[in-house]
Amino acid sequence: MPKAHLVLDPHATVGPVNRRLFGSFVEHLGRCVYDGIYEPGHPTADANGFREDVVDLVKELGVSTIRYPGGNFVSGYRWEDGVGPRSERPRRLDLAWHSTESNQVGLDEFAIWLDNVGSELMYAVNMGTRGVQDALDVLEYATIPSGTKLSDARIANGRKEPYKIDMWCLGNEMDGPWQLGHGTAEEYGRLASKTAKGMRQVDASLELVVCGSSGSAMPTFGEWERTVLQHTYDDVDFISCHAYYEEKDGDLDSFLASAVNMDHFIETVVAIADEVKEERGSDKTINISFDEWNVWYMLRHISNDKLRDPHDWPEAPRLLEDVYSVADGVVFGSLLISLIRHADRVTSASLAQLVNVIAPIMTEPNGPAWRQTTFFPFAETSRLAKGDALTLNLSSDTYETAEFGTVNLVDAVATHDAQEGESAVFLVNRSREESTVVTIDTSALTTHRVTGARTLSDPEVYAANTLANPDRVGLVANESATEADGVVTITLPPVSWTVLTLA
Ligand code: AHR
Repeated sequence: MPKAHLVLDPHATVGPVNRRLFGSFVEHLGRCVYDGIYEPGHPTADANGFREDVVDLVKELGVSTIRYPGGNFVSGYRWEDGVGPRSERPRRLDLAWHSTESNQVGLDEFAIWLDNVGSELMYAVNMGTRGVQDALDVLEYATIPSGTKLSDARIANGRKEPYKIDMWCLGNEMDGPWQLGHGTAEEYGRLASKTAKGMRQVDASLELVVCGSSGSAMPTFGEWERTVLQHTYDDVDFISCHAYYEEKDGDLDSFLASAVNMDHFIETVVAIADEVKEERGSDKTINISFDEWNVWYMLRHISNDKLRDPHDWPEAPRLLEDVYSVADGVVFGSLLISLIRHADRVTSASLAQLVNVIAPIMTEPNGPAWRQTTFFPFAETSRLAKGDALTLNLSSDTYETAEFGTVNLVDAVATHDAQEGESAVFLVNRSREESTVVTIDTSALTTHRVTGARTLSDPEVYAANTLANPDRVGLVANESATEADGVVTITLPPVSWTVLTLA
């Protein structure tokens, strides 16, 4: 049986695990908003039309910050279309997703929903077809208490108190040729700098996110970050990273090692940000907002001709409704491990997306809502990763992958909450055939006692939860964990994600 060994040392810390690592993303795309979080005729809908079954699942998922309203959508969005009397709101073409936007949900409704789920709003402004003035207008509408045209409009629309929105994204994926208003890094860097400066004249304490690359495979990756940061270093707090992974050509071995790519991506962006810091002699550090990450079977969606039919602009069509398998859930769990491993520099992240669209939560109109496989690693990690992320001393047997060369069979990260006297270890076994035995040296910890271990795995790695069979896959107790003389031993089944807790 393959083996791995880890040493946990509470003094070897990466940094505190920021709650914002467990953020998500709601875009006006497909059925994420309409028929997802909002379905007025649904039996569980509240007075505002929001599905309470979905609210309950979002709470169970444990989502901190939610990025809104896009995504590619935001680059053509007029935020003012989505406020005021609903009957007067215009229907508009959404060029990003070739859909019709009814504008029945906008900032004010979304803020009500956020209060229901108890999450923080992270708002993205339109830097595609708009820019400085649009950002200042929505900032005034949302955050100025009263006494100006736009703040008074908010009050007239029923929301007296200003919203507390700390994080603002300066556009979305402006490096992508598909993005409405896409330009060069120079052009975007200048616009982002001007917009940020203007927003800070309204409120200097805002936390601003500038667009990094929409993937590490982009031809401009690296140069984009450097140029954009040279223009905006003093104006912003975060640079974004986006990454999606999928199994290509049946190469499950490489897919299971996707976190290797995420690790490199993060470390490269950190190195570039720190280089720009050095060049400028700045004492400010720019951190990463990994504000889109997930498994996404993009190649399956890309040849959707309906998306280009000039006569067909459907409302809330079924788009990007990936069904996630156990293997997807395991890779997803390993991406969370990568984010936590870099907790010192990745201080905000958003799982893209939340409901129906590449989502952990699925819904059927007038029907049930259910959890996909990815729901489980997210909910457990959000609930149990507390205190500090630890620098693990990890040794593991390896395997060969076509994409990443030799890779550890086991990947892991641990967190330690000294105040609560609790630790958690998150592990994946990437072996397709074999269980792996992991020994964990906990002798340096005061937290030795195993309080639980739960695993996502299945003899059928492509098993999934669906409308017809919503509870086919879930977490199961891993009864193999034992502790003796400061060493915990646990067996991880093939293609599995596990959380082990100690107290
Ligand atoms: O999350 C789906 C899409 O992926 C977003 O709209 C865009 O930002 C990214 O390309």
